[in-house]
Amino acid sequence: MKKSTNLKEALAKKHLIRIVGAHNGLTARLVERAGFDGVWASGFEISTAHAVPDANILTMSDFLSASLNMVTAVSIPVIADCDTGFGNSNNVMYMVRRFESAGTSAICIEDKRFPKVNSFISGRQELAPVAEFVGKITAAKNARIKKEFMIFARVEALVAGFNMQEALRRAIAYVDAGADGIFIHSKSKSPDEIISFCKVWKARAPIIVCPTTYSSLSESAMQRLGVNIVIYANQGIRAAIKYTKDILDYIRERGIAGLESKIATMEEVFHLQDMHIMKDQEKKYLRSEVGTTKAIIPAAGADMDRSLKILLEDRPIGMLDINGKTLFQRNIETLNKAGIQDINVIVGYRGENVAIDGAKIIKNPHFKTKGIMHSIISGLDSIADKNIVIYSDIIVDQHLLEKLMRREDDIVLVVDDTYKKTHLRNKKLELVLTKMRSASGIRTIDVDKRNPIRKIGKDLSAREAHCEFIGLALLSRKGMTSLMDEFKPAKGMTAASFADFVQYLIGKGHEVFAHEVTSGWMEVHNLGDYKRACSIFS
Ligand code: SPV
Ligand code: MG
Repeated sequence: MKKSTNLKEALAKKHLIRIVGAHNGLTARLVERAGFDGVWASGFEISTAHAVPDANILTMSDFLSASLNMVTAVSIPVIADCDTGFGNSNNVMYMVRRFESAGTSAICIEDKRFPKVNSFISGRQELAPVAEFVGKITAAKNARIKKEFMIFARVEALVAGFNMQEALRRAIAYVDAGADGIFIHSKSKSPDEIISFCKVWKARAPIIVCPTTYSSLSESAMQRLGVNIVIYANQGIRAAIKYTKDILDYIRERGIAGLESKIATMEEVFHLQDMHIMKDQEKKYLRSEVGTTKAIIPAAGADMDRSLKILLEDRPIGMLDINGKTLFQRNIETLNKAGIQDINVIVGYRGENVAIDGAKIIKNPHFKTKGIMHSIISGLDSIADKNIVIYSDIIVDQHLLEKLMRREDDIVLVVDDTYKKTHLRNKKLELVLTKMRSASGIRTIDVDKRNPIRKIGKDLSAREAHCEFIGLALLSRKGMTSLMDEFKPAKGMTAASFADFVQYLIGKGHEVFAHEVTSGWMEVHNLGDYKRACSIFS
């Protein structure tokens, strides 16, 4: 039942509405996800959760705040157990306004004297005079704003040891005063008194039962008796207490080894928290000064240096562990620090062995026959204002990324010319020829010059090239859109690398700029790189 489908409408349909007790957002959400029709914001559970007796020890504000948590956590109706109304009819009127505006669908008040004590505690079950309780119901009805908001009256005569006639007399008086339903309570182990009540009640108004002690009364029997709402008021918290105690005993005796399969996984907890929804919302609403951002990590290919195979076994290079964190994880953390939360990793080779937190994994089943460019396009579920493409075998630092993100050009490739002075990497580099040669030398000043790229590719001769493409690029919304628009009709480009396609774009007249760096990144191409990375991150 949706909150928007009000409880009143549901009651008119005459089927049995199944409601379960809860005491906070989590337990209410568990009730909802288990498929029940509504939540009973139980005074017994809320009190227990505060480790105090269910005897009006807590205040109305405590109940209200617990109910508000529940209403916020679920989209099914919440009925608030409001004990005796927290005082006289003045308190009841204020209480109704507060619980209605908190979003509960109904309140239920019981005809005991304040301070009440839980119905299953023997002794001190004093009933309020009928006239006083009728006054509370009338006050409650007058205080509510919307007619859908329901006021239920709870008859405690049977709990307090009175006979059926007294229960009936009270129930009739409360319905005459405007109660939208009668919660007839019993602490008997047998359902007989509830059965007798229902038979003489003759559906004068909706009936609510709470079969805590008389569990033998089946739901089909309740339906035959004309019961409209059944409340399983406290089984949830009792299960939690028993199970938590068992687990605490286990930990005390044995530690936590072997416990995982007996408790909820962290994933289940995240799901209950709606973490996945938060992540989606972040993509929509978390803005940095550069607008919306996204990163694509193409990681589908099987290419890797032989020296790394023993470390990787059957995982792609992004899963290479550098001192406790994979390359993927290190780059995702850096991207996050640079304000990029929306990250897609495109996997292919051994994609089933890729486990990453904080990124969406997109499978590219065509990775064997198609190139990186195809992977990038297949991983683009949306385009942001600024889009980063980052290869899975490099590590970059936050400052490099942040500086790159501030570039205003539509397509910017990060290049470095220090390869000429460093070790040979036994690898064909993606070389770049820029319009202006960079000021060679180890020490240099970055003056943010706009330097267009003329040529790029593995086939460029080392003599002709100025620098190498490091595997990191920035594309504005316009740049990424051009990339997509040009890729779709491009012939013979499905196996293209990113660099090949950038060359194609340049040929088509698109401007592509170099962002020159001399540090702030490293590639992990072979075992030597791996050892160096491990010592840097040690
Ligand atoms: C509650 O759950 O707080 C109730 C139902 O009022 S009972 O505990 O059965 O009285
Ligand atoms: Mg209660």
